[in-house]
Amino acid sequence: MAPCAKVSIDPVAQFVSDVRTGLCKKGQKELPSKYLYDPLGFALFEVITQLPEYGLTRADERLLRRHATEIVRHVPSPALVSELGSGSGRKTRWILSALCEREPVSYYPIELSRAALESCESELGDVECVSIVGVEREYLDGLREVAALRADGVHLLVLFLGSTIGNFDSGADARFLSEVRSVLAPGDSLLLGIDLWKPPERMLEAYDDPQGVTAAFNLNLLGRINRELDGDFDLRQFEHVARFNEATSSIEMHLRSKRRQVVNVRRSGFAATFAAGETIWTESSHKYTRREIAELAVACDFRVEGQWVDDEWPFAENLWVAV
Ligand code: AVI
Repeated sequence: MAPCAKVSIDPVAQFVSDVRTGLCKKGQKELPSKYLYDPLGFALFEVITQLPEYGLTRADERLLRRHATEIVRHVPSPALVSELGSGSGRKTRWILSALCEREPVSYYPIELSRAALESCESELGDVECVSIVGVEREYLDGLREVAALRADGVHLLVLFLGSTIGNFDSGADARFLSEVRSVLAPGDSLLLGIDLWKPPERMLEAYDDPQGVTAAFNLNLLGRINRELDGDFDLRQFEHVARFNEATSSIEMHLRSKRRQVVNVRRSGFAATFAAGETIWTESSHKYTRREIAELAVACDFRVEGQWVDDEWPFAENLWVAV
């Protein structure tokens, strides 16, 4: 094997290893936020998107509904569309329908989960003149495959909606967008949905809703470890915490241990001890300023082609062009 060859490790082994690393860490324990999305977590997230306190998804969808025609006017024809993490596909409908006004569209949603691809295919199956080919891969691997498929003269439009970019660690957002850029050809487009800073009370309500749906979404991560890795977390002995970290401009989700306790994760072969009040950090959701977005575009070798901002819930739809 070449020294730098990428070795792909199977997803269960990766989960086992990430849980052991994150819970055996000295100092702040943590679990990667991608593990929040098993089928139950995915369903709970869909409910979160409908909560009155969580305006992010509605703002994203509103902007796409209102401005899709104008957005696609900036995208050269013919265009092939790929989406990183399509989710249910509901928001994408507006862009695909606007493109369909001028030409038949090939759409390649990229998702790790087959269930998400299936729900996207059934949600968008009725949009006339769109052919959907689901790609079950990590984002960048999938995007490289899709880019390799396009014929000469075909433009690539990549969608990365819903402010998933905010869930990357600090610095990892720019690294990821630079990698996306390296797959694109000059002139290709990226439509990026980004949640903006707003008063902390408003953000905290969105991530700690009174009905407890976000709490259930967060606690489900421990339930998932119990189900898949033979863990013995007592979910009643942990509580959901959302806090705003001013220094990083991020909402952080944590799970706080209500008492001193020892938890076994048998399939990972370890036991973790929790002090009363100790937390597991499960997600960060960075909130950007418009200036930060403009600087991010330049740092990642894009030019800003357009930006549309919602007037009810500060959120920006950004159209960038690869330079
Ligand atoms: C998917 N992502 C953009 C959501 C967010 O707002 O950061 C995940 C989420 N976590 C709690 N509520 C929603």
